[in-house]
Amino acid sequence: MAQAEEKKEENHVLLVAFSSQGHINPMLRLGKRLAAKGIHVTLATTEIARHRMLKSSGAGPADLVTGIELLFYSDGLSLDYDRKTNLDVYMDSLGKHGPSNLSSLIKEHYPSPKKLLCLVTNPFVPWVSDVAAEYNIPCAMLWIQPCALYAIYYRCFNKLSAFPTLTDPDMVVELPGLPSMEKEDLPSFVLPNNPFGSFPKLFSEVFQGMEKFKWVLGNSFYELEKHVIDSMCELYPIRPIGPLVPPTLLGQDQELENASVDMWKSDETCIEWLTQQPPSSVIYVSFGSIVVLPAKQMEAIATALKNVKRPFLWVVKPPEFPTPDGAGQLPSRFLEETKDQGRVVCWSPQTRVLSHPAVACFITHCGWNSLLETICSGIPLIAYPQWTDQPTNAKLIVDVFKIGVRIKKEVDGNISSEVIEKCIEEVMVGPVAEQLRKNAMALKAEARKAVAAGGSSDENIRLFVEEISGDSSKKDGSPKVGNLSYEGEDKVSDKGV
Ligand code: UDX
Repeated sequence: MAQAEEKKEENHVLLVAFSSQGHINPMLRLGKRLAAKGIHVTLATTEIARHRMLKSSGAGPADLVTGIELLFYSDGLSLDYDRKTNLDVYMDSLGKHGPSNLSSLIKEHYPSPKKLLCLVTNPFVPWVSDVAAEYNIPCAMLWIQPCALYAIYYRCFNKLSAFPTLTDPDMVVELPGLPSMEKEDLPSFVLPNNPFGSFPKLFSEVFQGMEKFKWVLGNSFYELEKHVIDSMCELYPIRPIGPLVPPTLLGQDQELENASVDMWKSDETCIEWLTQQPPSSVIYVSFGSIVVLPAKQMEAIATALKNVKRPFLWVVKPPEFPTPDGAGQLPSRFLEETKDQGRVVCWSPQTRVLSHPAVACFITHCGWNSLLETICSGIPLIAYPQWTDQPTNAKLIVDVFKIGVRIKKEVDGNISSEVIEKCIEEVMVGPVAEQLRKNAMALKAEARKAVAAGGSSDENIRLFVEEISGDSSKKDGSPKVGNLSYEGEDKVSDKGV
């Protein structure tokens, strides 16, 4: 065996991802970047992900991603269990059964686990770090939301800053490296009325036990979030290595092959339809893989799209399980009334859509993957966040990245079609639209620079590979995940934006 081959055989990394598409895909893209630097990569996730991949593509997982082996373990629930509606039960079962099932998988797959240089996990399966410790393997976290969220959760769950409480629910939160945040700008999991108890519990465990993670890698890039990244240097640094989006969005199509899985079958015909539309004319609308909008909000969006009379492409993913009161459904007659104006699809090839010249703007729930894909496409956004990190992502879009506007809710929590129409006009025509487009194009260029050879994210990957494959003195040291490569950049200010 040639020397290079032997080296590759020795350098194994196991990635462990939560089963959703928005978690698996950034992990796979990290895997491709590690593989490009000579590491042998395997990704493990739960059986439900294999089930969805098979359903959407009909292909075996082995055929879906070249160069990265996929392994699956059980989360303890049957495949037809409604995990989305019963999130707390799901997280509980995963936490109970995941560790032993993953451990068995490691034993079976790596007869000599010492060959594993590192396990990389994401924050929704935090017990992976305990499995890594069982085998004496160092563990890294891939933070798959903005670094801003990492900083907010770190400070909140370690009680380093004041956050809203039941007695003071409206307090404004001030954190280093971030703008002042009101209740509607904060992630739902730090609010006192958050209904999903399992997540604050999970984040408390993660953020109070960060020493289990020797490295924290972030799916972001330094130039996008430098103030908040710098603000974490003294606490528990995060090293940005993204954006982990398809290489075609980064102008890297020749160098890195795409690595992604689709849990739903994309309707490719919308690309032909886009091609028939004028440049920068189409409003793209999608709310990601989890959000199901209530009927009233579906109606407000439908009315606004009809009224603005511009072409649109709307992803309306049929709910997997029955939903109350027409949630997630289009108003009756909408398809018929708009058949010459727009297209509705169940699932789109989103990254191809966003980079299509016909697309002018994106009405989005502000999921971080969607947001990064949009940044890499250089188009402005209309933010309509729902839960988890999305409200903060919307705040970043408007006040930090300055690449979009936000749909303001009425006092009763609903949205009016007039407000949506106003937002659409604001990002499509006039001086605000022009400035947003300029800012979006500038960030697109920064993203490309960050991942190009020698760019900030590329350097951070190089450093990570060097450290995991270095000698044992390097492996046993305390975390060295500081922001080492940015001397001369702006210093953090208390409100760094
Ligand atoms: C979840 C959370 O909801 C989000 O807040 C968090 O930031 C990441 O995890 P999700 O809601 O699925 O993710 O949203 P997002 O992060 O935007 O990921 C959706 C992915 O699905 C994107 O990569 C997008 O390209 C893809 N997608 C979406 C399609 O390929 N086709 C579609 O029609 C819609």
